[in-house]
Formats: sequence, structure tokens, C-alpha cells
Amino acid sequence: MRRILPTSFYNPLTLIGSVIAGFNLCLIILLLFINMVSTRPSPYADLIILLMLPVFVLFGITLITIGIVRQRRRRKAGLAKEQRLLVIDFNNARQRTLVILLSVAFIILSLTYAFVMYQGYEFVESDYFCGQACHYVMGPEYTAHADSYHSKVECSACHVGTGTNYFLLSKLRGINQLTELLLNDYSRPIPVPLTDLRPSEQICGTCHAPEYPLTTIQEQRTFYLPDESNTPWKIGILFKAAGGSVETVNLSRMHWHSSVAREIDYATADPKREEIPWIRVVGLDGRQTIYFAKNSKSRQQAPAGSQTFKMDCNDCHNRTGHDFSPSDKIVNRLINKNSIDPSLPGIKSIALKALDGTYATQDDGLAAIETTITGYYRKNHPDVYASQKSKIEESIKAVQDAYKKNYDPVMRTSWKAFPDNAGHMYTAGCFRCHDDNHVSNDGKVLSRDCSLCHLLLEQQNGTEPNQIKLTNIQYPHPVDIGDAYKEKYCSDCHGSSEDKQSTP
Ligand code: HEC
Ligand code: HEC
Ligand code: HEC
Ligand code: HEC
Ligand code: HEC
Ligand code: HEC
Repeated sequence: MRRILPTSFYNPLTLIGSVIAGFNLCLIILLLFINMVSTRPSPYADLIILLMLPVFVLFGITLITIGIVRQRRRRKAGLAKEQRLLVIDFNNARQRTLVILLSVAFIILSLTYAFVMYQGYEFVESDYFCGQACHYVMGPEYTAHADSYHSKVECSACHVGTGTNYFLLSKLRGINQLTELLLNDYSRPIPVPLTDLRPSEQICGTCHAPEYPLTTIQEQRTFYLPDESNTPWKIGILFKAAGGSVETVNLSRMHWHSSVAREIDYATADPKREEIPWIRVVGLDGRQTIYFAKNSKSRQQAPAGSQTFKMDCNDCHNRTGHDFSPSDKIVNRLINKNSIDPSLPGIKSIALKALDGTYATQDDGLAAIETTITGYYRKNHPDVYASQKSKIEESIKAVQDAYKKNYDPVMRTSWKAFPDNAGHMYTAGCFRCHDDNHVSNDGKVLSRDCSLCHLLLEQQNGTEPNQIKLTNIQYPHPVDIGDAYKEKYCSDCHGSSEDKQSTP
């Protein structure tokens, strides 16, 4: 019989090795194909496709090689007999049954193997795996995401694209991330903004089409001062949030940037993109306007050493997938939800202190929240502690639950590490550009006028009478801070100290 391969290939070890290597190689190709056409591929499928299966392929190749080398040695030593292929006699009942049994067993085994591998593949694609099983790393995002508006939008819908180029890119990134994970060599917290997000038309645009114009949004918000009586400050605020495409609505606000401009680009040398010295607007008529920070030397070109980005949804809505709320917002929300009773004296203040303490682990934090709050009432309000014990306990539980969702000392995730840009109270956000300090050569200013983006229609401070106006109330600050309200950034006082903004 003619043999295609050199004779040293024909030995049992090499043959077994070839089956193992070939089978796993086919599986890799199959899964790669599934991963490529999948609408929700995950970089962690790489664990199976690029890490586990290749190990089996390598194992097969090793067997092949050992087989060949052994066979050659034996032949050199004159030990090898002429290899003859097995002769199966199908007329022999025993041999026939044996062959059939072996073939069936082989098919069942390989199908089971393929099935198990596929299950593994499905598992690593799931949100659960992304956030939990794979590693501790993404636990905080997993928890925050489950509690967000986008809880039903899978991680991979925002983080991994579809199509061949994103597929290949995510493979390359996947390998990199996996090595970082295995070497335990990654930064905590994971630095943002992520540099590898796709443009948001491709991510958000699949669900939020500009054809569906957003209108104005009116909201009632109640804040509580961190004083003894948790004084409430109520506002009714009308966000000029309308927008849409030029065709669908008459030019109005929000999605304002796309309504007032065809494209907005900004340049920055700051990896956090907080300092933005240069902005270029291409108007709907195609005309360009450059805004630059007043202290900037460069009035036309983007400053040397900076990188230019096209402004898109994620320049404002950067935390919509998984938000870590500021402590202030958390406690206001818990009071508004009746999870914390504002009749407990000083509860806002002590809850803030408990949430923002420095702890080594989440468990330490949870324990400290309990001791801080009970300690406070025992010491300062023993009568309240005695008579309102159950209310205090309920508050502690609510604060602890919120802590679990919003803080992780090991991964160092919290609102302090991840500024939310869709506002201006806790971080510079909109004021990165709208600060009265960015001007164009023809004298236009990116204004910080309080009514540019929203109107204050209602305002009530503590027990004062409610003020209602259909036009706009002058913005008061809940406590008197003089002109600082207009001159400083809100985040100078309300931001985290780690993330203080400089005043223009
Ligand atoms: C709606 C889109 C969206 C979804 C869904 C989403 N993300 Fe994100 N993710 C983002 C954006 C945008 C950023 C960049 C955040 C920034 O610049 O502040 C980000 C950043 C991250 C980061 C960097 C650290 C951080 O907290 O910003 C991690 C880790 C992450 N996402 C993991 C996940 C995981 C795990 C899931 C699913 C459980 C998920 N993401 C779901 C949009 C999303
Ligand atoms: C798979 C579809 C899908 C994708 C992709 C998606 N969203 Fe959403 N988004 C929704 C749905 C549905 C809601 C409304 C949820 C609700 O009201 O419960 C929503 C709500 C929102 C809201 C209002 C809630 C909030 O957080 O203030 C914003 C803002 C938003 N999305 C922005 C984005 C951005 C930015 C992206 C891209 C990074 C994105 N979405 C990607 C489906 C999607
Ligand atoms: C200049 C910043 C900015 C940009 C850019 C931006 N948004 Fe928004 N968006 C806002 C603000 C501010 C609000 C309303 C205030 C709020 O609820 O936080 C809002 C509200 C929304 C809402 C919620 C509307 C509702 O009825 O509650 C959705 C959905 C949304 N934006 C989607 C998008 C998408 C998709 C893009 C990208 C095409 C985008 N936004 C770009 C600032 C922005
Ligand atoms: C990267 C810089 C940048 C950031 C950040 C930014 N804007 Fe703007 N915004 C601009 C520019 C540039 C214009 C267009 C000015 C013009 O017409 O030339 C604009 C226009 C607007 C307008 C329309 C003003 C008008 O005259 O009609 C509103 C409203 C607005 N922005 C609100 C916001 C809000 C709210 C945020 C934060 C959620 C925000 N912007 C964040 C750069 C920015
Ligand atoms: C460039 C647009 C813009 C300008 C200018 C602006 N704001 Fe806002 N403001 C916003 C947006 C967007 C939010 C919503 C953030 C959110 O949804 O939590 C907001 C929220 C607020 C809130 C509610 C805070 C919260 O966390 O709920 C107050 C109070 C407020 N602004 C006051 C002011 C005052 C006072 C000024 C003038 C010094 C001002 N704003 C200027 C865009 C603007
Ligand atoms: C000079 C510092 C300073 C500046 C600037 C400032 N605030 Fe305040 N703000 C305070 C103080 C002090 C309180 C009282 C509570 C406290 O001690 O934290 C307060 C309380 C508040 C509260 C009620 C309590 C809460 O946090 O829920 C709101 C809402 C608020 N400020 C909004 C703003 C907004 C919006 C801006 C920007 C337009 C701003 N503040 C700018 C110092 C400041």
C-alpha cells in the first residue's frame, strides 16, 4: 500500500496525537466561526478558544512528535519491525462488534466533548462570567450594571463590536487582558475613559436612534442638608433636553450638540479628558468655529501634544452602563425612598461619613458603617438610640446595601474614581467646556449661564413657602455661599477631594 506520510508517522502514539490535535483544531475553527457571527461575542470566549483548546492541540502535537522520534530511534536501533496496518475482518463476528462498539464510543465521546466545550463557551459569554466568575476584577461593574437602566443590555453589546475587524481586535485585546489577569498585573481601579470603545453611533445608536427625538424632561428633586434636622431642599427643574436630527425636529437643545453642530471635536493632553483647552465646532452650515481656553497659547491648532476626539454620547453619558453613585446622591435617594427616616437627627451627615470612610475590604466597610452610625447615636443622642432603635437599624441596612453596590475598596471603585460627566455637581462634567472661559476668535463664549441647560421652575428651602414660576427662578443655593455659587465649580465643594477641579 502507498503511504502519503513518511513511515515514521505510522505508530499508535502519533495516530492518537493526530486525532486529538485535529479534533480540537476543528473545534477551535467552529467556535471561532460561531464567535464571529454571534451578535454578542465575549472576549472571554478566548479563555476557551485561545487558551484551553490550543493546549489540547499542543498536547496532540507533542504526542505526534514523541511518537515520530521514538519510531525513528527504534528503527535506527533496528528494533522497529515493518509497520503493517491493522487488518479488520468484517466477516469475523467478534471483530465486527468490536469495531462497531469502538466507533460508537468514539462518536459519543467526541460529541460529548464538543458539547462540554460549547457549554463552556456559552458560559464565558454570559454576563455572569464577565462580571463574576472570570475574576474579581469586574465584580463592581457587574453589580452596578445589574442595577442600572441598561441591566438588560449585555456587557458585550457595549464593550465588544460585531464584524470581522472588531472581532479580530477584541481577540488581540482579549489575549492582552488575559495575560494581565493571569499575571495579576492590572491597575485598580481600571483607568477610564476606555481607549478602545467603539464610536457611540455603533454602540448606542443600535437602540437610541436620533430619529426618536427626546423632549424636555421635568424632574422634581429633593436634597437633604447634612445638618441636625436633615433640612430638605426641593426643586422642580426643567431640562432642555430635546434634540434629534435636523430633519425630525426644529433645532432645539439636547442632543443639543448634534442639533447645534454637525460635529464637535475636542483636544486634550489629559488622559482623564478633564482639561479641555481646545474645541472645534463644525456648524450645520459647514462653518468652523474654534473655542479655546482663555489661558491657552494656541488659538487655531489643537495644542501640541494633545489628542483630538470626536464628541459623542459617551462624553456625557459615560456612566450609564454601570454607575457608582456619589455618597450624597445615595443618601438623598435613600431618604426619598423612605429607606432612611429623615426624622433621625443628623442621619444624612453620619451616613455620608460612614459611606466615604477608608476601609481595607468591603466587609470591613460594612462593619464600620454599623459601628459608625450606632456609635454616633449612642454618644450624641442616647434617647433617640433607645427609642428609635429599629429605625436606626433599618437605616444602617439601607446604607450597607448601597455601600455594597457602589464601593469596592479592593478594586478601588467608587464615585471618586469614576467621574460622571452628564451633569456638573460632583465633577466638572458640562463645565469642562461650559465655563465662561472658552472663547472663539469672534468673541463667542461657551456660557455657564444657569438657564442655558435647565430652568428652575420650583424651589422650596426647608419649611419656607414653595416658590413656583413658569419662567425661571434665580438659582439660589440651599445654604448661603455668596458669589461662590457663580464663581466656583460646584465640584470644588461637592466633588471628592481626590478629584478636585481647579476654578477657572
Ligand atoms: C450601555 C453600555 C455599557 C454596558 C451595558 C456595559 N458597559 Fe462597561 N463601560 C461602558 C462605558 C461607556 C465605559 C467607560 C466609562 C467611563 O469612561 O467612565 C465602561 C467602562 C467599563 C469598565 C472600566 C471601569 C469602569 O467602571 O468604568 C469596566 C471594567 C466595564 N465597563 C465592565 C463592564 C461589565 C462587566 C459589564 C456588564 C456586566 C459592562 N461593562 C456593561 C459602557 C457599558
Ligand atoms: C440594546 C439596546 C441599548 C443600547 C445598546 C443602549 N441603550 Fe440606552 N437604553 C436602552 C433602554 C431600553 C433604555 C430605557 C430603560 C428604562 O427606561 O428602563 C435606555 C436608557 C438610556 C438612558 C436613560 C437612563 C439614564 O441612564 O439616564 C440613557 C442616558 C441611555 N440609555 C444612553 C445610552 C448610551 C450612551 C448608550 C451607548 C453607550 C446606550 N444607551 C446603549 C437601550 C439601550
Ligand atoms: C452634551 C452632553 C450629552 C450628549 C453628547 C448626549 N447626551 Fe443624552 N442626555 C444628556 C442630558 C444632560 C440628559 C438629561 C438629563 C438627565 O436626565 O441626566 C440626557 C438624557 C438622555 C436620555 C434620557 C431621556 C429621558 O427621557 O430620560 C437618553 C436616552 C439619552 N440622553 C441618550 C443619548 C444618546 C444616545 C446620545 C448620543 C447620540 C446622547 N444622549 C448624547 C446629555 C447628553
Ligand atoms: C467638549 C466640550 C463640551 C462639553 C463637555 C459639553 N458641551 Fe455643550 N456645547 C459645546 C459646544 C462647542 C457647543 C456649541 C456652541 C456653538 O453653538 O458654537 C455646545 C452647545 C451646547 C448647548 C446649546 C447652546 C445654544 O446656544 O443653543 C447646550 C444646551 C449645551 N451645550 C449643554 C451641555 C450640557 C448639559 C453638557 C453636559 C452634560 C455639555 N453641554 C457638555 C461643548 C461642550
Ligand atoms: C451646560 C449646561 C448646564 C449649565 C450651564 C448649568 N447646568 Fe445645572 N445641570 C445640568 C445638567 C445636565 C444637570 C443634570 C445632572 C443630572 O441629571 O443629575 C444639572 C443639574 C443641576 C442641579 C441638580 C443637581 C443634581 O445633582 O440633581 C442643580 C441644582 C443645578 N444644575 C444648578 C445649576 C446652576 C446653579 C447653574 C449655574 C451656575 C447651572 N446648573 C448651570 C446642566 C447645566
Ligand atoms: C463654596 C462651596 C460650594 C459651592 C461652590 C457649591 N456648593 Fe452646594 N453646598 C455647599 C455647602 C457648604 C452645602 C451645605 C451642605 C454641606 O455642608 O455639604 C451645600 C449644599 C448643597 C445642596 C444640598 C445638599 C446636597 O448636597 O444634597 C445642593 C443640592 C447643592 N449644594 C448644589 C450645588 C450646586 C448645583 C452647585 C454649583 C452650581 C453648588 N452647590 C456649589 C457648598 C458649596
